[in-house]
Amino acid sequence: MRTATTPIEVAGRVNRFTYAIRNIVAEAQRVEAGGTRVRYLNIGDPVAFGFRTPPHLIEAVERAMRDGHNGYGPSAGIRVAREAVANEYTSRGFPVHPDRVVITAGTSEGIELALSAIVDLDGEVLVPMPTYPLYTAVLAKLGARALYYRTDPARGWLPDLEHMASLVTPATRALVIIDPNNPTGAVYPTATRRALLDLADRYGLAILADEVYGDLGYDGPLAPLGSVEPDAPIISFSSLSKAYLAPGWRTGWMAIGRSPRLDGVAAAVRKLADGRLCSTVPMEHAVAAALTGDRTHEPVFRAALKERAALTMERLGTMPGVSCVAPTAAFYAMPKIALPAGRTDEDYVLALLRATGVLCVYGSGFGMPPADGFLRIVFLAPPDELRDIYDLMADFTKEYLRA
Ligand SMILES: Cc1ncc(COP(=O)(O)O)c(C=O)c1O
Repeated sequence: MRTATTPIEVAGRVNRFTYAIRNIVAEAQRVEAGGTRVRYLNIGDPVAFGFRTPPHLIEAVERAMRDGHNGYGPSAGIRVAREAVANEYTSRGFPVHPDRVVITAGTSEGIELALSAIVDLDGEVLVPMPTYPLYTAVLAKLGARALYYRTDPARGWLPDLEHMASLVTPATRALVIIDPNNPTGAVYPTATRRALLDLADRYGLAILADEVYGDLGYDGPLAPLGSVEPDAPIISFSSLSKAYLAPGWRTGWMAIGRSPRLDGVAAAVRKLADGRLCSTVPMEHAVAAALTGDRTHEPVFRAALKERAALTMERLGTMPGVSCVAPTAAFYAMPKIALPAGRTDEDYVLALLRATGVLCVYGSGFGMPPADGFLRIVFLAPPDELRDIYDLMADFTKEYLRA
């Protein structure tokens, strides 16, 4: 029986909700309290590493606040932002109507709205392995199930379509495609994209295209998945967080393709969006500024990422027992450590943190088998700092693998 002193119970769904990228910070703080400098390579925030939000975006937000845009806005987002998003997709080959755009609190809220609109209790969604962990966390919250499809490091981390097809059941509702990919940095060639769309078509699945890194291919922006097949039931997500260097604004969008098969989902998303009233209105005013204004920061950012990726590959390549597929977009690398028998990726990451202060995220936080020995590095730090970090990692790993 409950009494006045009984702790208030926590809902069971919270136990199923895990988010390794943030969870591991508690251990890092303990290490820091012990006097070791911690290098936080766990979270993909370019601003934390000195990249600056473009001034014209800040001005757009300031102006919006001064002009009194501080009340609630339309739940789908202000018209000018939705039009800018629709025009952006349309000009890149994926025709989208502004009424099919919802401005969201980052890609994250779009993902949650779309999954909530599509997936019932006990429903299933195909999710890449490794995955960005929000997908599995939201599915856990919804009482639904992630079906992990393999992506293969031996083939540049491309999806294993046969494995994917073998997982589908009548309860499977959607296919998540993260391209460019976090955590692997992979970009899918058109033939792979086409094969993924064919598979979704064969099984009648909605396609959730996470394109938050779409502008961050090292050799230039990538076409949206919807440009491959504009009539496929695709919902694309992106935001100001990565390519526009404003992750703290929590401002993003979802674009629902023109397929009539998505009409019900579009209505459902708008209904759910009504419940949270609107996203952050002053920041919505930066969306059109970002998509129609000066983008000269983008090639500069891409070049900085390309340089850091090359440095990362060069240094990882000299560490015995470490292998890594070269990323071609974004700011992540997913090396593999040839772990001694009985050790897990989490053992390695925690030992590296305690010994050197270098904080990465273990591959099992992204759904990889713990014994496979993967970890994710965020390589946004300046090259000189990265060199120091890789020195620490190399010395530590040599000792660790000798033990
Ligand atoms: C693949 C992927 N999707 C979504 C997000 C969430 O981004 P946002 O800040 O737009 O919510 C991230 C952030 O790291 C990500 O890597």
